[in-house]
Amino acid sequence: MAYPESMTASIAEVERTRKERLARREFPRLTLEEKDSLLKRYHPDYRPEGFRALRVGPNQGQNVPHELADLLETRSFIDPDAFDLASRVDRDVDVLVIGAGGGGTSAALAATETGAKVLIATKLRWGDANTMMAQGGIQAADRPQDSLARHYLDVMGGGGFGNVPELVRALVTDAPFVVQWLEDMGVLFDKHEDGSMVEVHGGGTSIRRMHSSGDYTGMEFMRVVRDEARNRQIHCLEFNPAVELILDESGQCAGAILYDLETKEFTVVRARCTVLSTGGMGRLHCQGFPTTNHYGATADGVVIGYRAGVPMLFMDTVQYHPTGVAFPEQLLGQLVTEKVRGLGTQLVNRKGERFIFDLETRDAVSAAIIRECAERQNGVTTPTGVSGVWLDTPMVDLLRGEGTTRKALPAMVRQFARYNIDITKEPILMYPTQHYQNGGLMINEHGDTPVVNLFAAGEVSGGVHGRNRLMGNSLLDIFVFGRRAGQRAAQKAKETRLSPMTLDHVRSYNRQLKEARISPSRVSPMILPDYTSEACRIRRLGGVAAG
Ligand code: FUM
Repeated sequence: MAYPESMTASIAEVERTRKERLARREFPRLTLEEKDSLLKRYHPDYRPEGFRALRVGPNQGQNVPHELADLLETRSFIDPDAFDLASRVDRDVDVLVIGAGGGGTSAALAATETGAKVLIATKLRWGDANTMMAQGGIQAADRPQDSLARHYLDVMGGGGFGNVPELVRALVTDAPFVVQWLEDMGVLFDKHEDGSMVEVHGGGTSIRRMHSSGDYTGMEFMRVVRDEARNRQIHCLEFNPAVELILDESGQCAGAILYDLETKEFTVVRARCTVLSTGGMGRLHCQGFPTTNHYGATADGVVIGYRAGVPMLFMDTVQYHPTGVAFPEQLLGQLVTEKVRGLGTQLVNRKGERFIFDLETRDAVSAAIIRECAERQNGVTTPTGVSGVWLDTPMVDLLRGEGTTRKALPAMVRQFARYNIDITKEPILMYPTQHYQNGGLMINEHGDTPVVNLFAAGEVSGGVHGRNRLMGNSLLDIFVFGRRAGQRAAQKAKETRLSPMTLDHVRSYNRQLKEARISPSRVSPMILPDYTSEACRIRRLGGVAAG
């Protein structure tokens, strides 16, 4: 037992109420009105002080988180008047894929299928991406009792009914194919003894349709798609983030400028089509929240896409995953998969009481946890002043048989065991953590952005998830839209003729900054987060400090 004495009295309360909670598992669901009022009161998206209106670019006048606005209202990494674009092309390809997570890798795989010459460029190593960290699963309506229409309605409902319908249609329609495609390539999905897929519930889903590989589903997917791409001799330039897009004189995207983190040299890649699949912005730590995201999630793709003229959708909404670790502090903000609640565990407060139906959509569960800790003073406070509620993990084995936790959640068992916490015997302390960029760059169902020959796929794009993504639709999104964008890009590359390359869009953006009287002191994309200053550390903890 690693919990300090100050927390053990509350654990005793959780144990005291467990028997009755196991016997009576129903809990009232929120009505639409109740959910709406809960969100407006407690969800961080509704804190006006967390946002400001952009002063430049296609979304001028619209609210985005301060942390993103700060990045969008900066100068480019590249000085367009000093950079000699005219006399250099270091690489010339049909399709440049920027980003090497599941989205980028599947885009590259799809593009090579039609014979295109493809290059992947990525900021860190191949697979350093949120894909690798995804735990819970992927949704696909592939059981006879389920349907595409039902999956569609769940996605729309989860997103607040504002999602772009064509994108949702594409997402759910391709889902069964994508799961089969992954399995055919070698993904080891969880199976029953009869060979059928194990499928569990996620928050906001009306039926079980989550397919998983233990609690390291994304890592298993990444292993397989990356191996496949390597076997097909697709080249990936690692430690080479794209710092600016290049357009041609007719306004088509014509590639990107990469910056080698090791040699500090630039590489000009001319590409007939370019796919952005750079992931999200978790490492911006919006409103001081910690994050589940990988180190490179700094919104680079949004920044360069926006500067090139692509509008953003739903960038005034951020997903906070309800179950981020609040104790021990070494794991602060890390993900505890929703699959744990899908297996029957309950969230309870300091007194061992339930306060929300555990599989409400994420936005609602997060808001309820924030309410419990702040207003009702029902959170548990750790020795370092972080507040949280319990996730009663011992319930998994009690409900589903001894050994289930170790089988279904092996990574999580080990992760907590390192801190002497046995999750099969002790509950764990949770608080919302920044998890996902609900919005992003505008695309259509083929992955085209409004900038000709520029495509986007995965978290960098917006619209499919509306204002709140459901669990398991992110791993799905990257493969559906990664494949679609890759196919489309390869096709379009065949008919594309580029005129001379320019950085005029950067000049024009700089003019807008000047007109708005913004004189930025730094450049973007930020590439890597800055954890060096004390102010930054405090900001990172700000979202979870006890109320
Ligand atoms: O809770 C989770 O496992 C997260 C999954 C997701 O964001 O799709």
